[in-house]
Amino acid sequence: MDRIRIVGGRRLNGTIPISGAKNATLPLMIASLLTDETLILDNVPRLADVGLLEQILGNHGVDIMVSGKRAGETADHGQTLHISAASIVDTTAPYELVSKMRASFWVLAPLLARMGTARVSLPGGCAIGTRPVDLLIMAMQQLGAEVDIDGGYVVARAPHGLRGGGIVFPKVTVGGTHTAIMAASLARGTTVIDNAAREPEIADVAECLNKMGARIAGAGTSRIVIEGVIKLHGARHAVLPDRIETGTYAMAVAMAGGDIVLQNARPELLQAAIDVLGQAAVSVTPTNQGIRVARNGGSLAPVEVTTAPFPEFPTDLQAQLMALMTRAHGTSHIVETVFENRFMHVQELARLGARIQLDGERATIEGVAQLKGAPVMATDLRASVSLIIAGLAAEGETIVNRVYHLDRGFERLEDKLGRCGAAIERLSG
Ligand code: EPZ
Repeated sequence: MDRIRIVGGRRLNGTIPISGAKNATLPLMIASLLTDETLILDNVPRLADVGLLEQILGNHGVDIMVSGKRAGETADHGQTLHISAASIVDTTAPYELVSKMRASFWVLAPLLARMGTARVSLPGGCAIGTRPVDLLIMAMQQLGAEVDIDGGYVVARAPHGLRGGGIVFPKVTVGGTHTAIMAASLARGTTVIDNAAREPEIADVAECLNKMGARIAGAGTSRIVIEGVIKLHGARHAVLPDRIETGTYAMAVAMAGGDIVLQNARPELLQAAIDVLGQAAVSVTPTNQGIRVARNGGSLAPVEVTTAPFPEFPTDLQAQLMALMTRAHGTSHIVETVFENRFMHVQELARLGARIQLDGERATIEGVAQLKGAPVMATDLRASVSLIIAGLAAEGETIVNRVYHLDRGFERLEDKLGRCGAAIERLSG
């Protein structure tokens, strides 16, 4: 299993190209099941999760062609996928595949909406929380589907097609909103979703579906109205930049010191995180290329942060912020409200000398003058990158084990950081 070795203490200077967003790419690829024509996606990141989803969609009969590089293109450019679900040959998503990546459960919606039937394995447990799918099932039932759980599978039927309805989410759910929008796009009549997720990835998927002929209004707000249509057609869409990758590299330079430009980044996608970095005395300025982040010499200030759905501070940046605050001058508090078990990185950061107390969903981080390198273990995608960030500032060598977690959501991380001066390398096998 690959590991990553970091020798801390190097400042970061230069430019980091931000890739397309993983959490937009996955639902966009899944949305291709809604049409028998070709969906072309540009700016697609080269991630393990994308590769796995290609396999899962292939299992339903979807053809995916990756365009070759065009003249002048480098690895910094995203890839282009030509996705064709001309004929769906299987409406079952097996446990062996779904259990590898939770978001693949979302195929339930387009399969049900287009084929009138779907049998999708329940995703099973996850390191960061129980993560039930009851609200996704509720949304399909609100659109007229009959849903049973049988042998670990969700079996959904709508032999006469779905019909528009009212969906009120008792709590904000990104996956619930994505799947409700996809299913409602082909349902007869009008659907109104209340307390919808407002994440930028929701608006990106809705924009693409509208290019495919859907009639979606209000995406990005908490009330979304969808007029169902009989058929969707092909389209071309570029995936928006990854705000979580952007926030991660911003915290990396804040930790190590230095001055970098995050190319293609869009500040409005992560304003809450930018505000928190400002409170921590980190300089963040929008530029015409993206965002410039710098910390030259000044010390980090402690912060008080609570994670919550967009536009609040994202849970997917919580671990990275915690790593950063281990070096702040003073005591910080971070409250995690989205997932009930998203502090797996705390014990690993403690191995590097961090001082963190947990009290339920609240973490108290007492800043220390210096971290010290050590072998540590990645437990999930975002926890793994928080260990990389800590390693950038730790004295001596840090070895991060199980980096397959990292490869799921960060494209060429060691190459991007290495080009800015980090002493970082991948140790294979
Ligand atoms: C999406 O997960 C993201 N994944 C997550 O990113 C992200 O952390 C999360 O949204 C919150 O922003 C993708 O986009 C692929 P939710 P999702 O439904 O849709 C509860 C990463 O690191 N809930 O918004 O699964 C749930 O347990 C990943 O890239 C129910 O109770 O998250 C959680 O506590 C990790 N019942 C809360 O709602 C349901 O049916 C929010 O979950 C659904 C969710």
